[in-house]
Amino acid sequence: MTIRRQRVEWVVAADRSHLHELAANVILDVLRNTERPVFGFATGGTPLGLYEQLVRRSLENPRLLTRWQDVTGFNLDEYVGLSPEHPQSYHHYMWRYVYRYLPVRPDRMFIPKGIGNLEDNCRSYDESLMKYGWPDVQILGIGKNGHIGFNEPARRLAMNTHVTRLSESTRLANARFFPSARDVPEQAITMGMAGILRAKQIVLLAFGEAKRDALIRAFSGWLGTDVPASLLQLHPHVTVFTDQDIFGDLS
Ligand code: GLP
Repeated sequence: MTIRRQRVEWVVAADRSHLHELAANVILDVLRNTERPVFGFATGGTPLGLYEQLVRRSLENPRLLTRWQDVTGFNLDEYVGLSPEHPQSYHHYMWRYVYRYLPVRPDRMFIPKGIGNLEDNCRSYDESLMKYGWPDVQILGIGKNGHIGFNEPARRLAMNTHVTRLSESTRLANARFFPSARDVPEQAITMGMAGILRAKQIVLLAFGEAKRDALIRAFSGWLGTDVPASLLQLHPHVTVFTDQDIFGDLS
């Protein structure tokens, strides 16, 4: 395993379950040591192993388990047009893989609402972030095109929670979770880059060759709205957990 400390900290290892374990350590430390922890959750395939670790290790330790009663959770995004009960909604994902196992307060687990009045939903989401505070730790994945949450490459990026149109590359990448590519919604609600950068600490997970180019472009030293993840270089405490040795000497 290689650990490099720059402004961005890199944890590089070939074994993904080891990376999930190390990322889980970060979350569980905050859970133990923070009075009212706020966590920012991501969805997608990449963090599933991390969630499995969080659930398993919490269930093994009764004191840790009760700490979840004081947690506030904020998810990055949700598809427009999918109700919370829809099997491909991120509401459903969070309850299926995480929340149902833990003594969380449902009224403190915030996930943007993809149905109803979308402008109102965005505004009330930002109000909840202001009320409960931005995450102590924000978990992130990264899209192949460098998207974060559903902040897609664009000429301009929105700061706050907003409705966004999904790129064809993102719809294709996420088609594996839907019966067919046609069923992937065309729009989503996502936290904006400003909200994401307000987290105290960011844990970014990126696995597989498919994410290698996005990582290289995101942490190249250049900032650009064409690679939304590149804005993470402005954050003072980002740790990247990856099996892609973009430095070229994984040992
Ligand atoms: C989705 C989510 C992102 C996620 C990304 C990568 O579109 N909105 O939050 O990080 O795609 O997903 P995966 O981990 O499945 O590759």
